[in-house]
Amino acid sequence: MRKKVLYGIVGCGEIAVQTAKAISACEKSDIGIVQDINEDMARDLADKYGVPYCLTLDEVLKEKLIDVVYIATPHYLHAPAAIDAAGHKKHVLVEKPISTTLRDADRMIEAAKEAGVALSVAFPSRYLERTKMIKQIVDDGAIGRLVGIDFGQYTYKPESYWSGGWTGRIKTDWRTSREKSGGGVFLMNLVHTIDLLRYLTGLEVTSIAANWDTFDTEADVEDFLTATMRYDNGAIGAVRTSTLVEGKAPPETIEGDRLLGLNGQIFIALETVYVFFRKPYRDYNSGTWHRIPTADPWGGREGMITDFSKAVLAGRQPAITALDGRRSLEVCLAAYRSGQTGSVVTLPLLD
Ligand SMILES: NC(=O)c1ccc[n+]([C@@H]2O[C@H](COP(=O)([O-])OP(=O)(O)OC[C@H]3O[C@@H](n4cnc5c(N)ncnc54)[C@H](O)[C@@H]3O)[C@@H](O)[C@H]2O)c1
Repeated sequence: MRKKVLYGIVGCGEIAVQTAKAISACEKSDIGIVQDINEDMARDLADKYGVPYCLTLDEVLKEKLIDVVYIATPHYLHAPAAIDAAGHKKHVLVEKPISTTLRDADRMIEAAKEAGVALSVAFPSRYLERTKMIKQIVDDGAIGRLVGIDFGQYTYKPESYWSGGWTGRIKTDWRTSREKSGGGVFLMNLVHTIDLLRYLTGLEVTSIAANWDTFDTEADVEDFLTATMRYDNGAIGAVRTSTLVEGKAPPETIEGDRLLGLNGQIFIALETVYVFFRKPYRDYNSGTWHRIPTADPWGGREGMITDFSKAVLAGRQPAITALDGRRSLEVCLAAYRSGQTGSVVTLPLLD
């Protein structure tokens, strides 16, 4: 029986560097080949891991030993690559968001189903240690019925980000283009939180009223968005996010996502989780805030690769399904539509 899953990396830009590290660190996986249309990118990553590189997807797909195609290209290229890979019986792990349209997501899901391969979306924050802890608290009912969900972040993305990401590894034009990226800060960044909150709470957004705009970025994607939403248990949520807020928040203030229950609350900050219970829960007394320091909020990639590789080896579906990816995309697209039409948009979206 095979002990390791061999990955073909498609797109060798900024995030592929992190994923390659995770694949090679995980005992269930190895990198088999890397591909990019930009030879410098492909060669650089290949040299780091002593693996071959190529310039076309076809060359990856014809490699019989490759089990998984990991797609880390600009968003509009996720769907064609995933469908092609599934057609060649390769399992697919695609970067978030699953795609830029629901139609594309459906075509990807159909292709994977037809081929009998796994299709998953990269949401590493599900694999943070603290995610387990928060989920346990929610599942135990320790904060009671959830009635409020507040999330969002104010960040600052300098001009260089839009053409070269955080590291400037490669100059590209896709981040500023709505056609190529599908959206700005909400789809690009908050899609992680949307997925995480779905996972933590089991709740789905049923309607959304959003406002968004592009105030200070040479882009046709939004750099500011706020929205309120209703969840399927009746809870009410709010999100506010932007990429133009230089200085973020003043030093004494803490930014974070907040789960508000009838019996307590959870405040998820960058490196700390705060909990407040109205009744004693485990070792926590009631009526006071408890501060729980947590590790690197940007981690989770190794856990994600391990889980996906184990699923492939066991012939089971991975924990994060393509439908999860579709659902978080749907919430983003509903917000965009709401902002465009000035109306409340209900989910599921019909088209
Ligand atoms: N950068 C991050 O911090 C980050 C974090 C999490 C997820 N992601 C996601 O990862 C994906 C890639 O983002 P990135 O930041 O690495 O982008 P990037 O622009 O740094 O890299 C994209 C790479 O894809 C290559 N590419 C373009 N067309 C291709 C094709 N047809 N075949 C193969 N390669 C092709 C480009 O040459 C480039 O090297 C996106 O879905 C993004 O949302 C990025």
